[in-house]
Amino acid sequence: MSKKIIILGIESSCDDTSAAIISDGYILSNIIANQKVHEKYGGVVPELASREHQKNIIPVVDAAIKEAGIKKEDISAVSFTQGPGLLGSLLVGSSFAKSFALGIDIPLIAINHMKGHIMAHFIKNKAEENKQPNFPFLCLTVSGGHTQIVLVKSVTEMIIIGETLDDAAGEAFDKSAKILGLPYPGGPLIDKYARKGNKEKFTFGRHKVGKYDFSYSGIKTSILRVIEKEIDKNRNFIKENLEDLCASIQHTIVEVLIKKITKASSELGINEIAIAGGVSANSYLRKRLIELQKIQKKNVFIPKFEYCTDNAAMIAITGYYQFLEKDFSDQSVTPTSRLKL
Ligand code: KG4
Ligand code: ZN
Repeated sequence: MSKKIIILGIESSCDDTSAAIISDGYILSNIIANQKVHEKYGGVVPELASREHQKNIIPVVDAAIKEAGIKKEDISAVSFTQGPGLLGSLLVGSSFAKSFALGIDIPLIAINHMKGHIMAHFIKNKAEENKQPNFPFLCLTVSGGHTQIVLVKSVTEMIIIGETLDDAAGEAFDKSAKILGLPYPGGPLIDKYARKGNKEKFTFGRHKVGKYDFSYSGIKTSILRVIEKEIDKNRNFIKENLEDLCASIQHTIVEVLIKKITKASSELGINEIAIAGGVSANSYLRKRLIELQKIQKKNVFIPKFEYCTDNAAMIAITGYYQFLEKDFSDQSVTPTSRLKL
């Protein structure tokens, strides 16, 4: 029997420190340390993020190796997020990965974070049926920093066919939440309050942009305008209408995503649709995609919750596929905050 390919993945592009072990494509562990320090600042503070990564990286890697039930010497290669992301944060994960690879003399694999989000669909679990998209498929990649429609032709060929011209969908969630006085990250909170709200109560303007592109910066101005007008009449307007406001904001953001991915799918004749990135954890987006599957007979792929937001399992699975292609990096590799797909 040939030796198993065991990959240690490291993710540190923003405010989550994560390490995971994947063995021949099957998940063995995925440890994530979230950083709570940013909550009170309404967004990620880069300097604080890198300091937290420094504190967390060794215990997180140690826990991933222990939970996987393997020894350090069993690891075939280490993959890490090279970018895009915050430079100070990326430096912690990349420096660790480089030292680890050098220390036990194994190959080093540099990973594009956005590719990682897409590749999360290929993580297999021993205890489950593993349904994976067939090539070519369309992936709606929606996170705090990106909103893209990617034509995924193969593991190695991914083409961006549409993207945001300004704010990302996650950013639109977080900035809207901030206007409502909710802590960072506001996306999950909007999702929570929206469940009991009326999505038709308020309408917010949105910019119309061509083809498969997106624009979300207008939504903030539109929310501010509604709130300023109403707060003059009633000081408690936000508090009394929080659920309806959240449902209406969420509906506005998600509606555009659904419209554009459906348009791309019909025009390109591709029925396989996947979503990826932090915003794919949104319950309303997931519900709308399931409707798309039922009504329009699309094959929809929605990642498990733990693989939606930033995690190292997605970096380890991408590392596994790059390992098969012998796509290695040497010790001169450096992190890059703006890395293209
Ligand atoms: O992929 P991710 O963890 O980090 C980046 O690479 O950006 O995405 C984080 C983004 C944040 O903007 C967060 O508010 C959003 O994903 N998010 C959500 C939900 N969970 C996370 N947005 C809406 N609803 C959610 N349930
Ligand atoms: Zn991400």
